[in-house]
Amino acid sequence: MNHRQGTALVTAASAGIGAVYADRLARRGYNLVLVARDEGKLNALAATLRERFGRKAEVLRADLTNVDDIRKVEARLQADDITMLVNNAGIAVTGPTIDMNPDCLEAMIQLNVLVATRLARAVALGMAQRRKGDIVNIASVVALRGDQPAISVGYGASKAYLLAFSEGLDSELSLCGVRVQAVLPGATHTGLWEKSGIKLSALPQSNVMQAGDIVGAALAGLDQGERVTIPALPDVADWDAFKTARAALLPNLSRRLPAKRYGRGSIAKHLAAGPSER
Ligand SMILES: NC(=O)c1ccc[n+]([C@@H]2O[C@H](COP(=O)([O-])OP(=O)(O)OC[C@H]3O[C@@H](n4cnc5c(N)ncnc54)[C@H](OP(=O)(O)O)[C@@H]3O)[C@@H](O)[C@H]2O)c1
Repeated sequence: MNHRQGTALVTAASAGIGAVYADRLARRGYNLVLVARDEGKLNALAATLRERFGRKAEVLRADLTNVDDIRKVEARLQADDITMLVNNAGIAVTGPTIDMNPDCLEAMIQLNVLVATRLARAVALGMAQRRKGDIVNIASVVALRGDQPAISVGYGASKAYLLAFSEGLDSELSLCGVRVQAVLPGATHTGLWEKSGIKLSALPQSNVMQAGDIVGAALAGLDQGERVTIPALPDVADWDAFKTARAALLPNLSRRLPAKRYGRGSIAKHLAAGPSER
């Protein structure tokens, strides 16, 4: 056990993936700040972590859709002892976009996108100044589903944002000694499904992972220096091939003229055209 790990703040630590993170990080020697709305559950978890692992475990009750509560969490993240943020809070609103209650859609985007972004921003400056820290963003494999959404289009898009944000932020912060990891779980055995009105038992059980395995793989991925961890993906070469294909687009994504298939593509045609036609 390493006693110099500092303090990890875990959002949505009262259940599911967040509660497992809190347990695993305490085992690894971190003190914990546990954030969620259910203070009773957080207090029970904090007591267990103190008793089992001798760690400090602080409860910070916060509804992360409430701006005053978000500010409280941001303030705690700006303290010097914080060495890890696990941006785990997220909800899944299901169904076709046109049928969705707009307030529920907004709450999902607020929690999955805006809160994660604000908290990462809040913690990043101090970590960069201390040249030490890990920001872990719990996205989802739905980030990669594009035009084949699962759960809902808005949920997938929110997680695609989180993946893009993580990759970009990592490239900004890696020079300062701060690591940013996106974790992309597939279907995971937690209460999220029931809350979203989907029966987990209806999914093929061979596609559903236990939260303990998700977190174990995510921490192993971080130890191995991964910036994107997809716990279920058997061959990491598939992810590397995806990144290579994406990078191959880069030289051609911004040019002076539209592509030929849009009619005015050739430079010769462009130069031959009179100024008014250009
Ligand atoms: N389960 C999956 O299949 C799966 C797959 C891929 C990604 N994920 C992602 O993993 C993350 C954790 O999900 P999970 O499956 O562990 O969910 P979960 O078991 O449903 O737990 C959700 C947690 O979010 C907290 N929470 C919800 N609304 C909150 C709010 N307004 N403010 C503060 N905390 C709030 C809940 O605590 P309180 O009720 O105490 O506030 C609870 O601790 C999410 O980002 C989710 O999108 C899950």
